[in-house]
Amino acid sequence: MTVKQPIVLKDLPTDLDPNRLPQHMAVIMDGNGRWAKRRGLPRIMGHQRGVDTLKDLLRCCRDWGIPALTAYAFSTENWGRPLEEVEFLMTLFERVLRRELQEMMAENVRIRFVGDLDVLPPSLQSEIYRSMEDTEKNTGVQFTVATNYGGRQEIVQSCRAIAQQVQQGLLKLDDINESLFENFLYTKGIPDPDLLIRTSGEMRLSNFLLWQLAYAEIYVTQTLWPDFDRHILHEALLNYQQRERRFGKVGKT
Ligand code: FPP
Repeated sequence: MTVKQPIVLKDLPTDLDPNRLPQHMAVIMDGNGRWAKRRGLPRIMGHQRGVDTLKDLLRCCRDWGIPALTAYAFSTENWGRPLEEVEFLMTLFERVLRRELQEMMAENVRIRFVGDLDVLPPSLQSEIYRSMEDTEKNTGVQFTVATNYGGRQEIVQSCRAIAQQVQQGLLKLDDINESLFENFLYTKGIPDPDLLIRTSGEMRLSNFLLWQLAYAEIYVTQTLWPDFDRHILHEALLNYQQRERRFGKVGKT
């Protein structure tokens, strides 16, 4: 009797066009709590498992040739969760960063954090800045983690910074346009995502990259984040490659 082996999908599946892959993919990692609850486990176990999923997705981006990935790890609204869960997440981020830094270096990953980082626990901030500095020159997958991130908050802080420069006479009102505005966002220098994947079936942006996702294709899967894998990414990419991206213009008919 032959045992059926799971398909590992290390290389890019042959039905995907390597020339039409998203150059930047963003993920809303939703459903960790439900994943744990369904197994009678505490919610935090879902987050713990979610880290492994994210790690594999990052490797998959490298294997399949997707140069940039952004993950929504903690929103400005997530502070409203039970204190125990918030504290667990902060400790988890710190632990994962400390544990994975060497591997990220070995795998040539560049990590960046976007969000209001100043209010995060100081020990987490140290790990964040250390990992950003150490990996700054890495040229592999560009990995961005949105932590204490809120799209509206990001836009407001950009407006304030621009207004301040106008007030100080460093900028004129006529200098303000879309490309200048982008330079004041946390994501300065990072191209906008082409594809947003959200797990667990919710059809919301949840305040994620409101400016940057203006023209992104959105793919929602019912799969809960800890169960997300390369097979589901494969489906998402097939679906993405069937779409015609018009950017507000008229299509090919
Ligand atoms: C949403 O699921 C998930 C989060 C708020 C946390 C996601 C964080 C990780 C997977 C860890 C990433 C780690 C690093 C270092 C980047 P939920 O709890 O809202 O799920 P639910 O909707 O089922 O309750």
